Amino acid sequence: MTTYITTPIYYVNAMPHLGHAYTTIVTDTYSRFRTLCGDDVRFQTGTDEHGEKIAQAAEAEGISPKEYADRISESFRSTWPALTISPNNFIRTTDPQHIKTVQQILQQVYDQDDIYFSEYSGLYCQGCERFLTEKELVDGNCPDHQKPPTEIAEQNYFFRMSKYQDWLIEHIKSNPEFITPERYKNEVLSFLSEPLEDLCISRPTSRLTWGIPLPFDDNFVTYVWFDALINYLTGIGFPDGPDFNKYWDVAEHVIAKDILKPHAIFWPTMLKAMGVKPYKRLHVHGYWNVNETKMSKSIGNVIRPAELVELYGVDTVRYFVLKEMSFGLDASFSSEVIIERQNSDLANDLGNLFSRALTMIGKYADNIVPEPYKGLQNDLDRDLINAVEHMISEYRHNMESFNFNRALQEVWKVIGMMNRFIVTNAPWELAKDPAQEKRLMTVLYFLAESLRIIALVLKPVMPTAATKMAKALGLEDELKNATLANAGQWGISKPGTTIVQGQQLFPRIDKKKKNVPQPQQKKANKKKKKE
Ligand code: MSP
Repeated sequence: MTTYITTPIYYVNAMPHLGHAYTTIVTDTYSRFRTLCGDDVRFQTGTDEHGEKIAQAAEAEGISPKEYADRISESFRSTWPALTISPNNFIRTTDPQHIKTVQQILQQVYDQDDIYFSEYSGLYCQGCERFLTEKELVDGNCPDHQKPPTEIAEQNYFFRMSKYQDWLIEHIKSNPEFITPERYKNEVLSFLSEPLEDLCISRPTSRLTWGIPLPFDDNFVTYVWFDALINYLTGIGFPDGPDFNKYWDVAEHVIAKDILKPHAIFWPTMLKAMGVKPYKRLHVHGYWNVNETKMSKSIGNVIRPAELVELYGVDTVRYFVLKEMSFGLDASFSSEVIIERQNSDLANDLGNLFSRALTMIGKYADNIVPEPYKGLQNDLDRDLINAVEHMISEYRHNMESFNFNRALQEVWKVIGMMNRFIVTNAPWELAKDPAQEKRLMTVLYFLAESLRIIALVLKPVMPTAATKMAKALGLEDELKNATLANAGQWGISKPGTTIVQGQQLFPRIDKKKKNVPQPQQKKANKKKKKE
């Protein structure tokens, strides 16, 4: 099977923060999960570099928009490896190939009379780079940027989006997985129950020059969304590259709810007008909030991913965001909760299990994975095998449907069961009685085998920790090529494999000693207190 999964392309008017990191970690995890399922996977991210916001940010710094875009785009690109995020393609909307494709598409849609010239006035939010309706405002402000929109009246080009409204409603209704979770599908359908307006897709060069010129009128540049959304096509070689034919049919986009409308309404209608099939699935998540407010540059309450990685390590950061947020709902960032997760779920439950099991294999079996004696298996053993097999199927189902926190809960149920398995079997007691030698070896095999499967399923979530586990179990090469099909069943560990001691997975954090990262605004306030 084939998978094509994308993140939004991020604006280069701000450095990456935890909100951008979350979407990109989710996408990377899903991409690694599909690889684990044996798929041929393409994962794309990148930067959105045109538009008013970027032009103004560059002006404020006294440099050209391109110089500005180069700098911030690079900081996105270099943030991802630090989070073990490995995209196959990093696209920039200033790439010449992208610009050429956007112009070809504009010309095609214009030639078929789906773009026309007219006058418009409306309420424009610069933060969103789009016109808002009265209904969307909260106390006269844009709900995301907490600023009033500006009234703008000008002549522009328009895309006949309204023409495709009935088709879109029908498409959403007949493809239940098109927009998930369901709440967002309902939100879009409710929006579509009112007549859809046509979409203004240009900006006059008298107001903005930092954009792609319209091929049929050089007094205008393209509206940033008509440029940005097309990245999903140009990144795989639209219109006639071999990768386009291979990946487009299975395209899945991951976004937060702030850009639902452009992805669920503008984008499918644009594709329809172009004569291209709609994407397969749109996955929409909620916001990371700090003190109940969306984390964002304009509000100034951002947490930097690099800072979190430095304090807690990359695997803890990935685990924390996937476990803490129910995909689709908002979540709150708090340092206390990260520390709690690291100490309890990672250091205590998983880390202790791992080191106890390895120490016992070292002590009682000379670091060699022993033979499991089938005839000596009892109900406890069968329960553990059943639980592991059940976990793999639940894990698979939940990862496929973006329920990462539930997938992890299933894994942790088995970790809890393994910890109880050790206590109930008490290998240290079995070791005292030579008549129990075979039973002891069976118990130790069960521990090694369960840990192998835990490492396998954690690989998409915590690639570094999973590799450490595999190394310790003598299975580093096996894990590299493992899939759920060839390694996701009980009984694959080979007796005779040598264990490597000395790997600590997760250190405990001393809450009192740890410096916790504070949202930037708070730091500034703190300074004042001392004076
Ligand atoms: N450039 C457009 C997207 C074009 S895609 C064709 C854009 N860029 S953005 O830099 O503002 O990124 C928005 C995305 O960043 C969100 O949809 C989400 O993926 C991520 N997030 C930014 N802040 C976030 C939170 N506070 N919480 C969760 N995700 C957040 O919009």
